Amino acid sequence: MGNDNRSREIAELMRRRIAGMRAGERLPGVRALAAEYRASAATISSALSSLTVLGLVRAEPGRGTFVAGQERMPESDFSWQSQALGRVRVDADRASRLGSYGTPEHLPLSWGYLSPELQPGEELRRIGSRAARSGQGWGMTPPAGSPELRRVLAAEYRAEPSDVLVVSGGQQGLVFALRTLAEPGAAVITESPSYPGAILAAQSAGLRLSAVPADDDGILVDRLADELERTKARVVYLQPSCANPTGAVLSARRRAQVLALASAHGAFIVEDDWARHLWLDRSAPDPLFAEDPDGHVVSVLTLSKPVSPSLRLGAILARGPAGARLRASRTADDLCVSPLVQEIALELLSSSAWPRHLRRLRAALVGRREAMADAIRSTLPDVRLPRIPSGGLHLWARLPEGLDSAEVSAAAYAAGVLVGDGRHFFVDEPPAPHLRFSYGAATGPQITEGIRRLAQHL
Ligand SMILES: Cc1ncc(COP(=O)(O)O)c(C=O)c1O
Repeated sequence: MGNDNRSREIAELMRRRIAGMRAGERLPGVRALAAEYRASAATISSALSSLTVLGLVRAEPGRGTFVAGQERMPESDFSWQSQALGRVRVDADRASRLGSYGTPEHLPLSWGYLSPELQPGEELRRIGSRAARSGQGWGMTPPAGSPELRRVLAAEYRAEPSDVLVVSGGQQGLVFALRTLAEPGAAVITESPSYPGAILAAQSAGLRLSAVPADDDGILVDRLADELERTKARVVYLQPSCANPTGAVLSARRRAQVLALASAHGAFIVEDDWARHLWLDRSAPDPLFAEDPDGHVVSVLTLSKPVSPSLRLGAILARGPAGARLRASRTADDLCVSPLVQEIALELLSSSAWPRHLRRLRAALVGRREAMADAIRSTLPDVRLPRIPSGGLHLWARLPEGLDSAEVSAAAYAAGVLVGDGRHFFVDEPPAPHLRFSYGAATGPQITEGIRRLAQHL
């Protein structure tokens, strides 16, 4: 133990020393280093091995140890790659915003996951260490997922366990679904504004995405009918329950109309059901999946939202040949989701801690939602909140005309505050400037401070 610590210390000292040396330069021999650092030869060798593993030095038998690096590499020329790759598919600007967490000092006023104190951390640690000790987590499951987990996930959707495909989170579910349900180049429709990750998923599948506006009751069905006619799209992406970013909920009347349109046009509805466990004021409406016997609705669910972003676990529910194709394409991708993660999810969902966690989470999110809405209304009087959502994690805010959401969010970032630039939620031009705020990732004091700083830039 003592030797290990000493060797780590020496490795760190040598790492700093190497940083000031040139690639290819020779380090002193083990004996000289042992004298210099007052350590045994074994401790020095162990420090050098750890630097070798990190790729910082390389040992040449009989010659010594040298600082690693590209001392003889000519300057690279990657220009041929752009020609070989063809047109860019995934919008890098949108992708970088979606994957950007800022620095640890940033106040996370826009991030679609729970802050650590809202996650069931204690249960996850307990269940996680039990799963790691069990044999189950280190084996393999069938490609579609562990049979027990599929049974538990199917129950809430009134689905058959065989309809369930376990995936590594909702984002992978969307990519799998869009890629499998539509051929490259095909048209796909989304409600607008929409989740940027769904826009990226459509781009990465090589699909032509068009947007249909939505209001408080979800997508405008007359416009959807026109768009289905115009584009001949066979896939529509929707968030019927507490849409990200607006919080809109597809009304009962429109649910029936959307299902009728899917039936008339022979189209799929990809139902992104990310907020199922995040309803705050009332219980979540039934999934559309449960109202559709003919396999038009393919649902995507996720546990990363109500649990932890690191629990990369979700599922696709699909009936008929579409379900069979999705399950087959999983084998082509990565054989199965980590059985350890599946085991943790199964244990959590079947334990008494799960309903307890959801109750506690709901109460905390209600408090944060109110705190954020109050802070915006009192500190940013020119910013309008068209709707306080019944659930989910986000508030959609309209900026005064003439402001540029990109400039505002960049200024907020420079002031140490993360807010979502509304542009990224539109497929094409945004009709008005918006910001997206999230109340799940920031504590009460962070919310107050973040809004106060933002006020200085509006
Ligand atoms: C609407 C929506 N769908 C799906 C996802 C995917 O989440 P995950 O891959 O973490 O399950 C997100 C995450 O931000 C989201 O906001």
